[in-house]
Amino acid sequence: MAYIEWNDSLVVGHAKIDADHKKLVALVCRLYDAMQAGKGSAVCAQILGDLIAYTKSHFEMEEALMAAAGYAGLAEHKAQHAKLVHDVMDFKQRLDSGSAALTIALFKFLKDWLSNHILGSDRKLVEALRGK
Ligand code: FEO
Repeated sequence: MAYIEWNDSLVVGHAKIDADHKKLVALVCRLYDAMQAGKGSAVCAQILGDLIAYTKSHFEMEEALMAAAGYAGLAEHKAQHAKLVHDVMDFKQRLDSGSAALTIALFKFLKDWLSNHILGSDRKLVEALRGK
């Protein structure tokens, strides 16, 4: 069973942002499945690397949208993105060096972060882009 499921409650109503979020959820599931299947740390590190790369490109896209729209919450939203990238890259370094392992706690963190950020900051952004 998937650890986190894409569902309509996560839809913010912006085609590109929603498509990216769906892909991010799928990557978290891929990582979870790899961990559950007992795949080696090299495989998990590769998937985590893909997740980080996709997350960065998604954040850049949103930040470009915010900048283009003159969004007042840009700095705060960007800081949330930067903190997540920093935390996950820090974790990957520890995974690569063998001083950390994938745990349910990491998935809980990713699931909570994604849900809270999408339903809070991203939804607010899309509402602003729509001129609400
Ligand atoms: Fe969809 Fe602000 O990340």
